[in-house]
Amino acid sequence: MKDQIDAIQTEALARIGAVADARSLEEARVAILGKQGSLPQLSAGMREVPKEQKAEVGQLLNGARQAITAALEEKKDALQAAADARALEGIDPTLPARALHHGSLHPLTLIRHQAISILRRMGFALAEGPEIETEFHCFDALNTPADHPARNEKDTFYFDSGKLLRTHTSTVQIRTMETGKPPVRIIAPGSAYRRDEIDATHLSVFNQLEGLYVDADVSLGDLKGTLEYFLHELFGADTEVRFRPHFFPFTEPSFEIDVKLHAKGQQPKWIEVAGCGMVDPAVFEAVNDSRGDLAYDPARVTGFAFGMGLDRLAMIRWGIKDIRLLIENDTRFLRQFA
Ligand code: PHE
Repeated sequence: MKDQIDAIQTEALARIGAVADARSLEEARVAILGKQGSLPQLSAGMREVPKEQKAEVGQLLNGARQAITAALEEKKDALQAAADARALEGIDPTLPARALHHGSLHPLTLIRHQAISILRRMGFALAEGPEIETEFHCFDALNTPADHPARNEKDTFYFDSGKLLRTHTSTVQIRTMETGKPPVRIIAPGSAYRRDEIDATHLSVFNQLEGLYVDADVSLGDLKGTLEYFLHELFGADTEVRFRPHFFPFTEPSFEIDVKLHAKGQQPKWIEVAGCGMVDPAVFEAVNDSRGDLAYDPARVTGFAFGMGLDRLAMIRWGIKDIRLLIENDTRFLRQFA
């Protein structure tokens, strides 16, 4: 029995020593220590060992098991170390890592978030409407006569169905008043479409932010205060803002708002950023007709509306000279906003 233990241990250690991969190592373990393995098989012979030798043989068996287990462990570690070394071959793990480029928000997204957060603080809620619109919501309800140049096929994208791509976000004024009663205080950022010749300041898709405030006593003073405050928050408290009389069919009186731009190395100049005005009573009447009630009775409510170009605001904010940079997705441009 003692000789057999010796022989098994010697053979086992030799076999383990010769193993070259994890799978053969596992096979060796099963063959030696597994249920049907050579060592357990031999242990079964303990029954026949004379009583006075049992202790000694038992010790030998234990010793063999320990030696074999230790050899298996050691081989396993050695195989793992060799595999690690192979994986690292030709790689210098001490080299500095490659820089990760983090994505960043697009300048239009940044300016939209800023504009929304300022106006929300003033109590404006977000509203929206479809980009494919009816002539009614885009023009008729906004008091725009059939022969107005903006309705021309040369300026507006029409579908065969007679629908169109909205030319401004003012459509959301009508949609909001059709479905809700005053008081109304909403902003609606979104795309607008015009058949413009594309150049450094024009695209056929651009971004507007519409605003509408209707209540019992909304005044021109409210309009001026709101938009001045907004522009000062966006561009800085010392930004000069001016309201220039203008005409829009859906507001009366109407204004264009300019801010004074101080570009480096250039004479300061006024730049138009928004259109605005007091809601024309004709708009309230069109809304009432569409609703079939008098919720927007021009004798009881007044309101102001404004629409600004977000692309223009972004260009002013960051001195962007060409609007096309906003849609080209050139990462050299976009990375500057990270
Ligand atoms: N819709 C006008 C435009 O696109 C802007 C505007 C909005 C003017 C609301 C007055 C009131 O030019």
